[in-house]
Amino acid sequence: MRYAHIVGWGKYVPANVVTNDDLAKVLDTSDGWIRDRTGIAERRMASRRETSASMAIAASVAALDVAGISGAQLDLIIVATSTPDHVFPSTACAVQDALGADHAGAFDLSAACSGFMYGLGLATDSIKAGTCQHVLVIGSELMSRILDWSDRNTCVLFGDGAGAVVVSSNNQPGGVLATLLRSDGSGGDLLAVCDRPAQPAAQQKPPDDFPLNRQVIQMNGREVFRFATRAMDRATRELTHRVGWLPEQVDLVVPHQANIRIIESASKSLGIPVDKFFCNIHRYGNTSAASIPIALCEAVEEDRLHANDRVIMVGFGGGLTWGAAAVQWGAPPPPSQRQKFVNRAGLGFAGLRSRARRLMRSLEMRTLGAAESEPPAVRKPRPAEPAPETPPLPPATPAPDPGDGSQHS
Ligand code: ACO
Repeated sequence: MRYAHIVGWGKYVPANVVTNDDLAKVLDTSDGWIRDRTGIAERRMASRRETSASMAIAASVAALDVAGISGAQLDLIIVATSTPDHVFPSTACAVQDALGADHAGAFDLSAACSGFMYGLGLATDSIKAGTCQHVLVIGSELMSRILDWSDRNTCVLFGDGAGAVVVSSNNQPGGVLATLLRSDGSGGDLLAVCDRPAQPAAQQKPPDDFPLNRQVIQMNGREVFRFATRAMDRATRELTHRVGWLPEQVDLVVPHQANIRIIESASKSLGIPVDKFFCNIHRYGNTSAASIPIALCEAVEEDRLHANDRVIMVGFGGGLTWGAAAVQWGAPPPPSQRQKFVNRAGLGFAGLRSRARRLMRSLEMRTLGAAESEPPAVRKPRPAEPAPETPPLPPATPAPDPGDGSQHS
């Protein structure tokens, strides 16, 4: 029998911290309002150089390091994102290239904040079906590039970041026992990314130093709140029932980090004490598809997960979509130092190999002399640029943890 175990995890968050007080200087809001209504104290905001792909790669390198496997061993790479660098090539292909994952399929997945749960569901099924041995699932989001920074109703809620897990097959009972994926397109209008609405001239521009994005999140906060509390409750009940757990037997819930009040409400209705819900929303805000893998990673770092713990991960978001997984945690034995060294060396070679391949391809095109009959070669895509009118990002508040802004595990 094949079981799907989470054997590696990693995260990346930009170093630039934007506190509630930073926002209160430029918007009609306050630290008190944001903390009371959402639980958020600060969020990370990517620099111009950071993209969904660069953050996904950093989180993946950390996850592979924990798992002790190399990029070449991966069979599938799934990137859940609403903010891909390009429509295509996919962000997942950029990750594949950077990791030297020569045997992996790679694709992006769009399910808003539920994207990571959808990716974990697909990874689990691929492993249990026997088609994959190792799958990398990533959530990576640049929410700051799809926010209307003049709309206090939405822009205070979100942040940037990426999280990744490696899911591997082994025959030890446990791991991801069951997953649930659901959707309701009739609620699509409650939470959507749309063209920036025309506004009176005075309000057209966001505050100085914040990007003027062309497409922005629009949300009916109250309705989304109602949907989210119901979705978390129902998904958790259905999954625990399916795997034969009572809600009170759950050791840890790793929920999507959208609002502390949604988490508290789910805790009350499920009868699971709130201290069993892992929460890091105060640090990062809502990082959409990245929020659950970042939270999982920090739960491990904070020693909140132990062998055989019963864990529920549950997410919800635009679409409407929601999803959950019941996991019997089985921490893998740490890889040897030698294995880690070999894997890191492999990553170094991946960049060289990628450049060599591009060179060979361009030489091949020249020597075949197909230039006249063939269409011109496509340039290597550059990372997505913010809208041309975008002014510089707000000044960085130094991150409290000197390790942030780099790979974590
Ligand atoms: N600062 C100060 N006041 C504000 C702010 C702000 N940042 N934002 C709104 N207000 C004001 C409103 O204008 C309103 O004022 P009014 O009464 O004079 O009109 C007042 O505060 C209350 O507004 P409400 O919308 O009723 O506030 P509520 O308590 O519902 O909280 C919130 C709003 C935080 C958005 C809440 O509804 C929520 O969390 N909803 C769910 C959001 C969510 O989870 N989104 C992510 C989904 S995941 C995904 O897929 C992206």
